Amino acid sequence: MADPSDSPSSPVDPGARPHRRAHTTARDLERYSGLFAERTRVMRSSAMRDLMEITARPEVISLAGGLPDTSTFPPESFAAQMTRIAHESAAEALQYGPTEGFAETKECIREVMAAEGMDPDPDDVIVTTGGQQAIDLVAKTLVDPGDVVIAEAPTYPGAVPVFCSYQAETVQVGVDADGMVIGELERVLDRLAGEGRRPKFIYTVPSFQNPSGVTMSAERRRRLVDLARARELLVVEDNPYGLLRYEGRPVDPLYKLDGGDYVLYLGTFSKILSPGIRLGWLCAPPPVMEKVVLGKQAADLCTSTLTQYFVREYFGEGSWREYVDDLCGIYRERRDAMVESLERFFPDGTTWSRPEGGLFCWATLPSYIDTTDLLAKALRENVAFVPGAAAYVDGRGGSDMRLNFSASPPEEIREGIKRIGNVIAEQVALYESITSEHRIPGPSADPAAPGREAEEAGGTSLVIPFRREGR
Ligand SMILES: Cc1ncc(COP(=O)(O)O)c(C=O)c1O
Repeated sequence: MADPSDSPSSPVDPGARPHRRAHTTARDLERYSGLFAERTRVMRSSAMRDLMEITARPEVISLAGGLPDTSTFPPESFAAQMTRIAHESAAEALQYGPTEGFAETKECIREVMAAEGMDPDPDDVIVTTGGQQAIDLVAKTLVDPGDVVIAEAPTYPGAVPVFCSYQAETVQVGVDADGMVIGELERVLDRLAGEGRRPKFIYTVPSFQNPSGVTMSAERRRRLVDLARARELLVVEDNPYGLLRYEGRPVDPLYKLDGGDYVLYLGTFSKILSPGIRLGWLCAPPPVMEKVVLGKQAADLCTSTLTQYFVREYFGEGSWREYVDDLCGIYRERRDAMVESLERFFPDGTTWSRPEGGLFCWATLPSYIDTTDLLAKALRENVAFVPGAAAYVDGRGGSDMRLNFSASPPEEIREGIKRIGNVIAEQVALYESITSEHRIPGPSADPAAPGREAEEAGGTSLVIPFRREGR
């Protein structure tokens, strides 16, 4: 195993940078591959993380990440809170904390959840290192290799690597304009029951879904909760965006409808305050929570004490709702800029969602365009998006893309969509010249009745709620 050049007797220049290999050679891989755990074979990289390095370049307009615009947070408020912590509670803030999180942080969480009509018992809440860790802890607690997990199609791209790394078999259920297609879910559950299989949980992002932007209707939410109760199945509701609503009436979270028996709830401060503080939470009934706490102890002992103190100070000022209102105003304008630009710059044969909140639009291109290939071309034009395949485990989504509107000002969004539109138009022209076919095939679903169509046909692909009128 040891490389002779790493031996302690090698002369060391104290001023030299540590030795790094420029490339991982085939021999290196051979050397380590026998050591890797079985699960590493099915681990997947996160598409957004992969893109981050490229999209960090200043010349790139990134519509790829799911980044909130943290430049909107007043620096003087940040400075005041951190100064107060330094002066009044430095030793405590720099110390370890309880695995479950501080009672004061849970009070802040209760305020956030109360804003959507929920009232969890503090004992049912654990503070996590972002919502991402909450997904991981749920999977760690419930999933054995080969277990079935149900997710939406498309699903949150960041959940896919988690389910893969616990070796779950992820079965995806279609989404249409009203969210997860419950009729299809019932059919999937019946099929699995026929095979003697029972999913460990149903994972859903019901409000302003990442990636599609779609919100599950009140009627579907009721049906999903009733179904979970009737079949005694767990639902994992991931709700980072519920408070980022730009129009329309709020819909009750599943957790509120269920009361916390069958619905586990995941929340985060990332989109309403800051992802840099890495603070999220999970609400679960006591037997599940007991195991989750053990899983978290093993993972990181506790969530950052320092950032929990920050949240406590920030909420103490009593103006967090105003900041969320400010964000909604800013993001509404950006959502509008994106939808208007899609209308203007995307060619015929493309469709997209018009979300009432959240951070994303979802666009579907003619089926002969592969958005992973298209991304390489778009990057040459210094613009990025997330290819739809990242939101599926089974190779679907090849002609879809996720477009983020929260991280860029309206003029950049317009320019970015224009560039992507041009790249698509080139592909369309190329296709037409090769096939001499001047008719552009649109997505396969019937635009007239998106919800019903998907429900009746088995809903295997996302039928988006808004589509362009033919010009
Ligand atoms: C649906 C969903 N869940 C979880 C997360 C993870 O968020 P964080 O770990 O920053 O709380 C995100 C982030 O974009 C998300 O969109």
